[in-house]
Order: sequence, then C-alpha cells, then structure tokens
Amino acid sequence: MNTPLIDPFQRAITYLRVSVTDRCDFRCVYCMSENMTFLPKKELLTLEELDRMCSTFIRMGVKKLRITGGEPLVRRDIMTFFNGMARHLEAGDLEELTLTTNGSQLARFAKDLYAAGVRRVNVSLDTLDDEKFAKVTRWGRLPQVMRGLDAAQEAGLKVKLNAVALKGFNEDELFTLTEFCRARGMDLTWIEVMPMGDLGNEDRLDQYWPLTDLRRQLAERYTLTELAERTGGPARYVRLEETGQKIGFITPLTHNFCESCNRVRMTCTGELFMCLGQEDMADLRPALRNHPGDDAPLEAAIHRAIGLKPKGHDFDYSRQRPDGQMSRHMSHTGG
Ligand code: 5AD
Ligand code: SF4
Repeated sequence: MNTPLIDPFQRAITYLRVSVTDRCDFRCVYCMSENMTFLPKKELLTLEELDRMCSTFIRMGVKKLRITGGEPLVRRDIMTFFNGMARHLEAGDLEELTLTTNGSQLARFAKDLYAAGVRRVNVSLDTLDDEKFAKVTRWGRLPQVMRGLDAAQEAGLKVKLNAVALKGFNEDELFTLTEFCRARGMDLTWIEVMPMGDLGNEDRLDQYWPLTDLRRQLAERYTLTELAERTGGPARYVRLEETGQKIGFITPLTHNFCESCNRVRMTCTGELFMCLGQEDMADLRPALRNHPGDDAPLEAAIHRAIGLKPKGHDFDYSRQRPDGQMSRHMSHTGG
C-alpha cells in the first residue's frame, strides 16, 4: 500500500505537471532562443515510460495531471499517451487530465483529446494582432491558433487563455483580450514574465509588466471582486461584475504562493523538479529504467524526492536585478 505524498511542510502533492517534449514549433522570445539545441531523442522517456511514470504518481495520490512541453502536441504519437491515461480517468483514480498548448495543433487533435477524457485546455496566446503574434512567437502564425481555438470549442473543450504580460507589447490589448474572451466564453489568465531562459537581464526587466499595474487598469473599467478560490497554484482570480468573467493573475514575482503549493514538475527525461524556482531536482529515470517490471524502486525514489521539496522559491525583482535567476528554459521544466 502506498503512503500518500506529503512533503516536509505538510503539503499533499496531488498535482503533477509533465513535460512530454522540450521541442516546440514556436520560438517565443521570452521562452526560447532562435537556435535552440534540443535533447537527443534517446534521452527522452518513451511513451511507455511516460505512462509508467504517470501511472506510478497516480497510484501515489496524484489526482490532476497536466501535460506540457515544449509543445506537447508536437511529440510523435502523443495521442497514444493520452489514450493510455484515459484508463485512470475511467477508474476514478485520476480526476483531471489537461494540457497546456500553444494551440498550433489543436485543429488536428481537439476531438481526439476530448475522446481521451480531456475537458479543459490552456492555450497560450499573448496578442490578437497577426504581426505582433508573429513577432513574439517568431515562428507562429495567429490564424492557425485561431483555427485551433475554434476546433477546441467545437469539440467541447473548455478553453482558458494564458497571456504573458509584456510591457510595451500587449499592454494596449488588455481590454481587447478581455472582450475577446468574454465573447468566446473563455477564461483569461495573465502571467508575469519570469526570469527564465537566456534573454539578457536588462531585456527581461524591460519586458516586466507588473500585474498589480494591469489589475489597476482593469479596475478603471470594471468592478473587480476578489475570488477566494485557489487551485493550489500561483493563480489568484477576480470576477468582472459587469460581464461575469473570471480573470486570473499568476504573479510569481509579486506574491508568495508557495505555502499552498501542491505540485511537482517532471521533465521529458524523467527529472523531477520539486519547485519551479529552485535548481534542486531528482532524476527518476534510473529507478525506472534499471528496474523494468518493478515499481518499488521508482516509488521509493519519488518519496525521497518529495521529501526534499523546498519551502519556496527565490524569484525576486524587487532589487532591480532578477535574483534567483534560473538558467533552465521554460520548455525544459514545462511552464
Ligand atoms: N515567463 C512567463 N511565462 C512563460 N512562459 C514561457 N516562458 C515564460 C516566461 N519566461 C509561458 C508560456 C505559456 C506557458 C507554457 O509558459 O507563455 O503560457
Ligand atoms: Fe513554445 Fe510555449 Fe515556449 Fe512559446 S512559450 S516557444 S509556444 S513552449
């Protein structure tokens, strides 16, 4: 019998985010450099290994699984993995299977995702302007993502948009994006740009648009009601009374949310990061690969790793220098 995953600060770990690939068909400026080197394919966990990893976590109490990347839908045969996870939903061991995607492949996969039991998707979209979209994603084109959004909603998936707040870039789209989401019945969450990847420090601080400011602007047009609901993650929500919309704010830099953290992240090579803002990780791959057919060593490795989950992160912009700067790319740990 497995003991549940409780970390040293009495937080139950019920949420696993899994990056299934470090590759992506976009090159967003705040996430990747233009000429990224990706991991050799043989370093990646196979789809069978991903299934075994996730199934082990689910046996140990994980109730919510979010699939990320890179762009998860560019991983070859990824639907095999989703279809495999469907059995845990059917058995009631897994409560939710979701993904975070750039939307580029949704037109192709929306129906199959719904059939596998996915009910919600988070789509990253920072701008509704074709040119700005091409500029921020470098390789992405907006119409393709728009077709993806249509397909997702037609398939019955609930869509949440995630927009990275970028100073001087999408500040002027605060109300257009809000209105777009109202008209389409989508939730919207704003994310403060985090000190990840390899953009220079000065660039990063330049791009930083504090959500406190965004929220103040929103309050000039709408009546904001703070919602108590927390998801165990960094998001806080308000309701716009005039439209009934829910708007989220992810503010890793201006708020501390670590005390309610219920999550860990696994990379596509089987490294478990206990905290997005810390370098500490546990490599679970040896326990997996060296013991085919025996999950006990893997379970022990997971328990040891959770026992090392730190109290919180060290991101801090307040000294005008991104302290706690991470050398990891977002595409590595998967947002
Ligand atoms: N800061 C904030 N969000 C980021 N993302 C990628 N890089 C960064 C960053 N440096 C976001 C994407 C997407 C999710 C996967 O992570 O926009 O919403
Ligand atoms: Fe790809 Fe998402 Fe990174 Fe953009 S932010 S390059 S879409 S993984």
